[in-house]
Amino acid sequence: MTAPIAALSGLDLRAEIDRLRKERNAVILAHYYQRPEIQDLADFVGDSLDLSRKAAATDAAVIAFCGVRFMAETAKILSPDKTVILPDRDAGCSLEDSCPPDEFAAFRAAHPDHIALTYINCSTEVKALSDIIVTSSSAEVILSKIAPDQKIIFGPDRHLGGYLNRKFGRDMLLWPGVCIVHEAFSETELIKLKVLHPGAPVAAHPECPPHIIDHADYVGSTSGILRYAQTTPAQTLIVATEPHIIHQMQLAMPDKTFIGAPGADGNCNCNICPYMALNTLEKLYLALRDLTPAVHIEENLRLAAKKSLDAMLTMAADTVGQGDLGAR
Ligand code: 13P
Ligand code: SF4
Repeated sequence: MTAPIAALSGLDLRAEIDRLRKERNAVILAHYYQRPEIQDLADFVGDSLDLSRKAAATDAAVIAFCGVRFMAETAKILSPDKTVILPDRDAGCSLEDSCPPDEFAAFRAAHPDHIALTYINCSTEVKALSDIIVTSSSAEVILSKIAPDQKIIFGPDRHLGGYLNRKFGRDMLLWPGVCIVHEAFSETELIKLKVLHPGAPVAAHPECPPHIIDHADYVGSTSGILRYAQTTPAQTLIVATEPHIIHQMQLAMPDKTFIGAPGADGNCNCNICPYMALNTLEKLYLALRDLTPAVHIEENLRLAAKKSLDAMLTMAADTVGQGDLGAR
């Protein structure tokens, strides 16, 4: 990658991306954790549920997915006839890495009376081994539709699963994965921040561990956090999720102040997702130009994974995402 990127100096990347987007009939989808310059030129910015709905509904020929690999794979599962490109093929996810498909298959086999409710942050293979996929914005509505006596295994995020267990009084068996970004928030530093900003509510993503969730006034997905920021009368908010979402908050609410929750030493960069950060304008330009890296999924595997995603889209059909807050 280094040589071609160095050769791009002097190009007006934004204009070139715009030209290629039209030439290729491409739609650029971006997650809220992407760099501001990518969010600013995306056709749509959203959370995992919004983005999968957009990917399923688009009539573009090419989906340029500025997010991580499981998101681009989800787009391909739902829109197999589209060319789906991911600017950096190494943009993975610690939750996906924590859950190798063979180990997950053994876990399932050991609990034959359980269904598998699985967070979308996993590989296509794990989706194919699951019954219902959830995102952080669809998990609550989906879980509330599952009979209370139904035994469930939940993976790969033990913090999201634990949060759901506590909130709904369930006893789901949890896979022991974590998001390295949300795991890094420091409770001590968060308390210091709350003392500095008395009255500022804390909005936290459910991937955070319980000692952070316990300080939250609102817990929800990225789109839920955006909605909360818009509806709370508070002028200052502490945001316990990946800090690039603050870009959308500032665009939508320029008069409010948003403070990212700190990591261990108070000012480390450990709350920036290193996988999301791999995508850059240069790599997006090259991906649109060369239509690579492209996502390919073997058809039987795709169809198996699609069942659990379709189950989510059906069960969460009435779930409202942030909508077009980030749309261009
Ligand atoms: P949502 O945007 O669906 O809340 O997910 C957050 C996340 O960690 C994506 O990797
Ligand atoms: Fe995965 Fe966490 Fe990055 Fe989201 S923020 S992509 S869960 S590592």
